[in-house]
Amino acid sequence: MKKRVLVSGGAGYIGSHVTVELIQAGYDVVVADNLSNCDLTCFEGVKKITGKDDIPFEKIDCCDYASVDRLFSEFRIDAVIHFAAFKAVGESVAEPLKYYRNNLLSLLNILEAAKTHGGCNVLFSSSATVYGETDKLPVTEESPRQPAISPYGNTKQICEDILRDTVKATAAYGNEVMPGIDKPGPVKGTALRYFNPIGAHPSALIGELPRGVPNNLVPYITQTAIGKRECLSIFGNDYPTPDGTCLRDYIDVVDLAKAHVAAVARMLEGRMAEDYEIFNIGTGRPVSVLELVNTFEKVNNLKLNYRFTPRREGDITAIWADPSRAEKELGWKAQRTVEETLAAAWAWEKHLAGKE
Ligand code: WQD
Repeated sequence: MKKRVLVSGGAGYIGSHVTVELIQAGYDVVVADNLSNCDLTCFEGVKKITGKDDIPFEKIDCCDYASVDRLFSEFRIDAVIHFAAFKAVGESVAEPLKYYRNNLLSLLNILEAAKTHGGCNVLFSSSATVYGETDKLPVTEESPRQPAISPYGNTKQICEDILRDTVKATAAYGNEVMPGIDKPGPVKGTALRYFNPIGAHPSALIGELPRGVPNNLVPYITQTAIGKRECLSIFGNDYPTPDGTCLRDYIDVVDLAKAHVAAVARMLEGRMAEDYEIFNIGTGRPVSVLELVNTFEKVNNLKLNYRFTPRREGDITAIWADPSRAEKELGWKAQRTVEETLAAAWAWEKHLAGKE
């Protein structure tokens, strides 16, 4: 029988790419989303890409336990990939309670239902933000976590801990994952720490859909190139890096999606070395803001309007992954080049412009 994966937040940017890869890898998927930060554009794109018109979609809020419980009763769920969360760093500073309530409660509900319905495999969408600023680069999964500088970052750390503790406590419920109603069972957990996800599906049918002015670099670049924004501000060119701009590890969203499939397969096939595991998902390759801008111009054959402005508060100088654990244990490695990724990001922006 096909295994079924619940993708919470599956209509969003990363969730929609993961849904495509799961379906293409032969899994059944249930998408749950409250559409609080997206519409159905990407879900429709997922259907087109996969040629599957009957993907179950549940418009639910994971903060409502009754809704989550109902999903676990209606579907036999073998694994959950939990994306449903708020993710704007700046907004989280202004509205911490909104972030703590949403991001923590949705995970608590997923875990409660997972435990209650016979146990389940839960993959949590974490972030390299847990590492904070460090001189020891690249970061491995053993690198210490630093106190978070934003409530958003703190929710990622707290959620990792909630998952870890739940896995530990429920291990006593038995070693078999036995789906069944009202039957407490063990929860197994994986946290994937993403670096900077960028790009879009090569079909240009799904991609990032920021609401309002983008906070992140690549959507700001593509919106400037298409004429929606006047000028890109590069935040700081006086960092102690080769060209003075910050270094990040930009991971293609399709590569990132494939890492989820590899991690879910490891859980479902009983290949985990520990009941709770953590993997860095990055390329291992630092790229500066200026390099990214220059590559975008070159690969898409255009000129971008940009200027240097003062540093943005809270930005760290440099971070990139040591992805060797994911390569060794998951058999996963980032494949796409920055050029391919930036061409896909631009194709997606043009696709959106064509629809307006
Ligand atoms: C990348 C680089 C900026 C915009 C954030 C979150 C993290 C994660 C991903 C999300 C930095 C520079 C940016 C602009 C610029 N979580 N920049 N001009 O800050 O590395 O990570 O997003 O869900 O938790 O913190 O990503 O894309 O904002 O910035 O010069 O208009 O681009 O200074 O060096 P960041 P980013």
